[in-house]
Amino acid sequence: MTIDKNVIADQDRDFNILKRQILKDKGFDCSPYRDKYVKRRLAIRMMANNVDSYKDYAMLLKRDPTEYDELIEALTITVSEFFRDTSVFEYFRKTVIPTLIQDKRRKNQKIIRIWSAGCASGEETYSIAIVMSDFLGANLGKFLIIVHGTDIDDASLEKAKQGDYTFEEVKNVGKDFLPRYFIFDSGKYRVRDKIKGMVKYGKHDLISGKPLAHFDVIFCRNVSIYFSRDMHEKLYMAFYNALNNDGFFVMGKTEMLYGNARKLFIPVNAREGIYQKKVAHVKNHEISQD
Ligand SMILES: C[S@@+](CC[C@H](N)C(=O)[O-])C[C@H]1O[C@@H](n2cnc3c(N)ncnc32)[C@H](O)[C@@H]1O
Repeated sequence: MTIDKNVIADQDRDFNILKRQILKDKGFDCSPYRDKYVKRRLAIRMMANNVDSYKDYAMLLKRDPTEYDELIEALTITVSEFFRDTSVFEYFRKTVIPTLIQDKRRKNQKIIRIWSAGCASGEETYSIAIVMSDFLGANLGKFLIIVHGTDIDDASLEKAKQGDYTFEEVKNVGKDFLPRYFIFDSGKYRVRDKIKGMVKYGKHDLISGKPLAHFDVIFCRNVSIYFSRDMHEKLYMAFYNALNNDGFFVMGKTEMLYGNARKLFIPVNAREGIYQKKVAHVKNHEISQD
């Protein structure tokens, strides 16, 4: 029993040493991520290299720094989909966009800024731009809509900027939207320039990056699931500060607001993960908590 405890203590110590080494050598901070998550991702790389202890893996990284690239890639899960969780985008189009547009018209404002934080390879940003464009139709030109896509993963951002997707990747787009918003060229579906022109990409680390601000809507979906509980609160506080008054926050369907962050937002539709920045006055749209 004592031996087991010692073995576990040694493993924990080596795990912490390895995390510090990754931070020192690559500037990648594992601490905001859940330990369980980091251990699972490390196990994949350790298995691929036939190494069975954190200590040996740390030595391998020193011997072969190219392994760091594989490790960082394993630590950042970048899967995404167009219109991921269709019902979220339906609700966003049916309820959030009309409220937002009405509010902008009332305030005589033309600029709408939307942030997709952790945008991966662009599917989320383009889905947002497509629903905005579809909703506004002939009125699109009356507004300046900017969808800011940010991520820490360079390869994902490159793919996002390219805007080329395979048949499999556009499977959720639907027969109606596909020909309207994509051009089929050289075996790929390319996002049309009208939609691409609404989207801007930039590298940004949600943990250490400078605070961004003045957004009407923030999407941060399927990103915080990998973060520790402490980090959640910091992140949601940063989103609160980054939103304009009455701004909306859209989170992943499996994500939750924790602790004090629950006091910052009003559920617009909690089932779909849609919230609104809490301000003193009552909103002019129907708020459901189902
Ligand atoms: C699973 S994808 C989610 C993509 C998209 N939001 C969606 O729901 O389909 C998670 C993304 O978060 C990014 N990410 C992870 N940690 C991040 C951080 N600290 N700052 C910015 N992006 C991060 C990853 O690189 C990845 O592209």
